[in-house]
Amino acid sequence: MQIFLDTANLEDIKLCAESGLIDGITTNPTLIAREGVELKQRILEILEIVDGPVSVEVVTSDPKLMLEQALEYASWHPNVYVKLPCTPDGLSVLKILKTKKIKVNMTLVFSLAQAVCCAKLGADFVSPFIGRLDDIGQDGMELVASIQESFQKYGLKTQVLAASIRSVQHITESMIVGADIATIPVSIFHKMLRHPLTDTGQAKFLADYINTTHAQS
Ligand code: E4P
Repeated sequence: MQIFLDTANLEDIKLCAESGLIDGITTNPTLIAREGVELKQRILEILEIVDGPVSVEVVTSDPKLMLEQALEYASWHPNVYVKLPCTPDGLSVLKILKTKKIKVNMTLVFSLAQAVCCAKLGADFVSPFIGRLDDIGQDGMELVASIQESFQKYGLKTQVLAASIRSVQHITESMIVGADIATIPVSIFHKMLRHPLTDTGQAKFLADYINTTHAQS
């Protein structure tokens, strides 16, 4: 499973990328606004750090403007994946972008039917939002599993990008159901690398070794 970071923070991206585990980045308008930076400059900075897909989301609901923004983003770098909302207008823009071979990540996917429609139109990624479904009492992970299963059943090539991840458990379950990619907030990325039993086990091993060495000397 590929691991993307869900952030537009440069320091976090630099730090996590050093691990060698980061395959790409997803941003969204909220994450960009949180940084208080200009979109293009920040995306170009991210692209210098990470050699992989970087998702950049359109900031309009008007299909004509969506198309204009999408074409502009795609001109910035070959690793830019244009993020479109999974609305009827978003789908119509997806159809046009695929005739131009532009890479697209369909975002805000909350149903299997939406995901299959995106895949039929050739989306590169679909992003089901796990946490936001959990928030309204539905099972976000069940959606990811059903999308994965249907894409396999129908031979659809679109990759499933598990998004809106809120816990290490979400990552583990995404791995179990075979999601192609998980996009992870920085805090969860750091948590994912640790286990309390690893820490206590390592502390005990070191203490035992030091005690034995001292006893022998
Ligand atoms: C995915 O690409 C989105 O940026 C992100 O996962 C949304 O997560 P949230 O529901 O925590 O805002």
